[in-house]
Amino acid sequence: MLIPKAAWTLVVPILASAAAVNKHTKLQECLTAEGIPGPANLTFTITPFNLRLPFTPVAVACGVKAGLKINPKSGGHSYAAHSLGGEDGHFMIDLKYWNSVVVDNTTYIATVGPAGRLGNIAQSLYAQGKRAFSHGTCPGVGVGGHVLHGGYGHASHSWGLALDALVEAQVVLADGSVVIASNTSNFDLFWALRGAGSSYGIVTQYKFETKPAIDQLINWDLKYVWTKAQARQVLDVFQAYANSTDLPREMSARLFIAASGVNFWGVYQGTQAQFDPIFNALLAKIPGTPQTSNIFSSDWIGSIKQWAFMDITMPLDYDIHENFYSKSMMTNWISAPELDKFTDYWYSVANSNTRDWYCIIDLHGGPTSAITAVPHDSTSYAHRNALWKFELYDRVANNVAYPAGGQNFLNGWVDTVKTTYPGTLGMYINYADPGLTKHEAHTEYWLDNYEKLSKIKTKYDPYQVFMNPQSVNS
Ligand SMILES: Cc1cc2nc3c(=O)[nH]c(=O)nc-3n(C[C@H](O)[C@H](O)[C@H](O)COP(=O)(O)OP(=O)(O)OC[C@H]3O[C@@H](n4cnc5c(N)ncnc54)[C@H](O)[C@@H]3O)c2cc1C
Ligand SMILES: *[C@@H]1O[C@H](CO)[C@@H](O)[C@H](O)[C@H]1NC(C)=O
Ligand SMILES: *[C@@H]1O[C@H](CO)[C@@H](O)[C@H](O)[C@H]1NC(C)=O
Ligand SMILES: *[C@@H]1O[C@H](CO)[C@@H](O)[C@H](O)[C@H]1NC(C)=O
Ligand SMILES: *[C@@H]1O[C@H](CO)[C@@H](O)[C@H](O)[C@H]1NC(C)=O
Repeated sequence: MLIPKAAWTLVVPILASAAAVNKHTKLQECLTAEGIPGPANLTFTITPFNLRLPFTPVAVACGVKAGLKINPKSGGHSYAAHSLGGEDGHFMIDLKYWNSVVVDNTTYIATVGPAGRLGNIAQSLYAQGKRAFSHGTCPGVGVGGHVLHGGYGHASHSWGLALDALVEAQVVLADGSVVIASNTSNFDLFWALRGAGSSYGIVTQYKFETKPAIDQLINWDLKYVWTKAQARQVLDVFQAYANSTDLPREMSARLFIAASGVNFWGVYQGTQAQFDPIFNALLAKIPGTPQTSNIFSSDWIGSIKQWAFMDITMPLDYDIHENFYSKSMMTNWISAPELDKFTDYWYSVANSNTRDWYCIIDLHGGPTSAITAVPHDSTSYAHRNALWKFELYDRVANNVAYPAGGQNFLNGWVDTVKTTYPGTLGMYINYADPGLTKHEAHTEYWLDNYEKLSKIKTKYDPYQVFMNPQSVNS
C-alpha cells in the first residue's frame, strides 16, 4: 500500500488543502519532508467544473499510509466532481502539467499526456501531419477522464469512441508500481481501463492510434419549432433511422432540445455531392420547415471549431465553471408509449421550467455505427448497442444556489422511460450522476460488465485506494 517516492514524484504537483481533517498536519509534514510542494493557488486548483458540488480534498501524498482515498484530476470536467473525490476529504493529484502530444511519424501513434485538453490535442495532432482521433466536442475536457469512460463526439459514429483509439496506457497502480496496459500487456487491466478507468490507477500516459484528418466535411444546424405531435413524429423517424442502414456510417446527427425549440445538428464526412441526396431523403421525413438553416462545408479543424462554440485553444489554467444537475440515458429501443410519455413531459414540465435546461439525443449506435461494430467484449464500455445516447442538463447561474429538489425535474423526465423500460436503462459515466446510489451507478454504468470489473479491481486495487462514491468495488 505504501507508494514509493519515485511514483509520487511522477505526479506532482500534489494538492495541499485547508480541510479540517485530523491527519492533515502530520501528512503535510511528511510531504514537506519528501520535498513535494502543494499548489501555489489552492482555491483555483480545487474549484470543480460543476460548482454545485464544491468538495474539499485533503492535503497529502503520504496519505496512502493513513488510508486516504486518491483521485487524479486531468481536465477536472467530471459532472460529479469525481476528480475531487466526489465527497470531502480525499487526496487529489493534479496532473495539469502532463499535457504533451507527440505523433510518431512512422507508426502515426500519438503519445498524449492525461491533462491534454481536447481542443489543444486536436490542433496539435493536426499540426503534426494532419492526424486525428475521435473524441468529444468540448475543447476544455481533459483526455484523461474522457477516454477512460467513453469519449463521444461527431467522429464517433464513423470512427468509434475515444477509447477505441487507445492502444496503450501507462498506469501507476495502488502498490506504487508502474505498468503498461495494452492488448499484449495486462490485458485485463486494459479492458477495465476502457470504460471504468478511474477505479484502477493513475494513467500517466496514453498512446492513441491516429487517422488522417478528414479534409472535407459538411456541417449543419437546422432550427425547428415543432408542435408536440410533430416532435413525437420526429422521435419515431430518428429512432428508426438510427436502427437502419439508411444512416451512413460517415454521418453524425443529434437533436439539441431546449425551451426555444430544437436544433438538428450534425456532421457528414464527405463531399457536398455525396451528402445532398442522403440528407434530402432524411429531411423529407422530418415534419415542419426549419426557422433557420445553416449548412456549410469545412476542413477538420473548421468542424471542430464549429461544434466547440468557443475558442478551441485552451489555457493551462482553464477557469470555466457551471452550476447544474445532469443525467444520461443509453437506450436500445424506446417503446411508443414511453416516447409518448417522454414527449408529454417535454411539452408540459420541461417547456414550463424557466431554468436553463437542455436535452441532447445522439444517434450513437446501430447497424452502421463504428461504436457498435467493435467486439462488445473487447472493452468494459457497456453501451455499444445503444441506438441513442441522451444527455439531460439543468443549470442555474453560477452565483445562485441550484434549488433544493431541483433534481426532481430531470429525474422525472428520465423516469418517463426508465420506469417501464425492459431491463436496465444504461447510463454514461462521463455524464456522472451523483444522484445515483453506488449500486445503481454500478448497474447503470456498466450493466453486465460490472462483475468482471469488480474481480479486476480486487486484483489491482484490493484496498480501494482509487475510490469515489460510484467507483467499482473490490
Ligand atoms: C463542458 C463539458 C462538455 C463535455 N462534452 C463531452 C462530449 O462531447 N463527449 C463526451 O463523451 N463527454 C463530454 N463531457 C464529459 C467528459 O467526457 C467527462 O466529464 C470526462 O470524464 C472529463 O475528463 P477530465 O479529465 O476533464 O475530468 P476529471 O474530472 O479530471 O476526471 C474525470 C474522472 O476520471 C478520473 N481520471 C482523470 N484523469 C485520470 C487519469 N489520468 N487516470 C485515472 N483516472 C483519471 C478522475 O479521477 C475522475 O473520476 C463533457 C463534460 C463537460 C464538463
Ligand atoms: C489563481 O489562479 C487563477 C488562474 O491562473 C488566477 O486567475 C487567480 O487570480 C489566482 N489567484 C490567486 C490568489 O493567485
Ligand atoms: C512529423 O511530421 C510533421 C509534418 O508532417 C512535423 O510537423 C512533425 O514535427 C514530425 N514529428 C516528429 C516527431 O518528427
Ligand atoms: C431494428 O432493425 C432490425 C434490422 O432491420 C429489425 O429486425 C428490428 O426489428 C429493428 N428494431 C425495431 C425495434 O424496430
Ligand atoms: C487489440 O485487440 C482487439 C481485439 O480484442 C483488436 O480488434 C485490435 O485491433 C487490437 N489492437 C491492436 C493495436 O493490436
